[in-house]
Amino acid sequence: MIVLGIETTCDETSCAIVKDGCEILSNIVASQIDLHAEYGGVVPELSCRRHVDIFLPVLKECLKEADLTLDKIDLISVAYGPGLIGALLIGVTAAKTLALALNRPFVGVNHVEAHLYASLMSQKKPVEFPCLGVVVSGGHTALVIMENIGTYTLIGETVDDAVGEAFDKVGKLLGLPYPGGPLIEALASRGDKKRFPLKAGKVKGKPFHFSFSGLKTGVLYTLKGQNSGSQKPLDLTEKNKQDIAASFQSVALSDIVDKAVQAAQHYQCKTLVFGGGVTNNQELRRLVGESTASLGMTALWPPMGLSLDNAAMIAGLGYHCFRQKGSGDTLDLSPETRIAF
Ligand code: KG4
Ligand code: ZN
Repeated sequence: MIVLGIETTCDETSCAIVKDGCEILSNIVASQIDLHAEYGGVVPELSCRRHVDIFLPVLKECLKEADLTLDKIDLISVAYGPGLIGALLIGVTAAKTLALALNRPFVGVNHVEAHLYASLMSQKKPVEFPCLGVVVSGGHTALVIMENIGTYTLIGETVDDAVGEAFDKVGKLLGLPYPGGPLIEALASRGDKKRFPLKAGKVKGKPFHFSFSGLKTGVLYTLKGQNSGSQKPLDLTEKNKQDIAASFQSVALSDIVDKAVQAAQHYQCKTLVFGGGVTNNQELRRLVGESTASLGMTALWPPMGLSLDNAAMIAGLGYHCFRQKGSGDTLDLSPETRIAF
């Protein structure tokens, strides 16, 4: 089954063609980072206008790379949420239009679920369920028990900022352009992670929930000099930036790894499935390896090119959704800014 995937949830316009849920024939991702960098974050209005401008060229390139024409598409799969409403509307409208014009079914998939599926789609061996899904993206941070593809139970999520969002906000405090995540990782690799005493939040009675807004405020106060007793602001020298980045990153990532490993033990999951843009962080991968090695757990990661928002994971998951439901969605499917697991 040849599936066309469409992803426009935030600041990437992407189209992909995937065969039978796993074989990627093409995956074109047009990033809008250049458009939003100077504003320090994604500007929703600019994002949806860019999706409109670039959708057809991206679709054409995707077909060209797969060496296919539109009549060879069996199913259209679109990310219908969670994301920015204006941005989602473009992808969902494009999917419905193509479905009508080509007389093919279409399905809407949850793009956060698709981030987890990105780590499963390239597995050669069958995955042993239940797994613990660990979502670490710019908009979401969550722990879910995955009974199977499509059957999940949420056991923890952030009560405020997502971890990627916290990286981006700390980046902004350090004067870095959007997205701060990769730049913080680069700075942190040269910094002293023990220099500044920062803490991640705990949520009373909810051991697997996350809270990162206090950590971000901790960085702000450290910069203002209010954590050291002296009221003098910290100079933004390269060394200070490196040490702040390293201290912040170490606390944020350790919090995720500790909670994920505890949850996996508690729910007897032998496999941890990671998804979302923060999986690009090599220190996260190293910490997970270190914590799981002696516990006989396996961690699955998205392959190169499938960590950030992309349509290949949307097409792949759409194949399974369509087979499980036995039919496509109807034209009244609406984009959703939030979707519960
Ligand atoms: O999953 P994603 O493409 O977007 C959402 O669906 O939200 O992830 C984007 C997020 C951004 O917050 C970005 O800063 C973060 O992933 N990110 C990183 C790294 N690469 C991307 N965070 C930390 N370290 C990285 N190397
Ligand atoms: Zn995403």
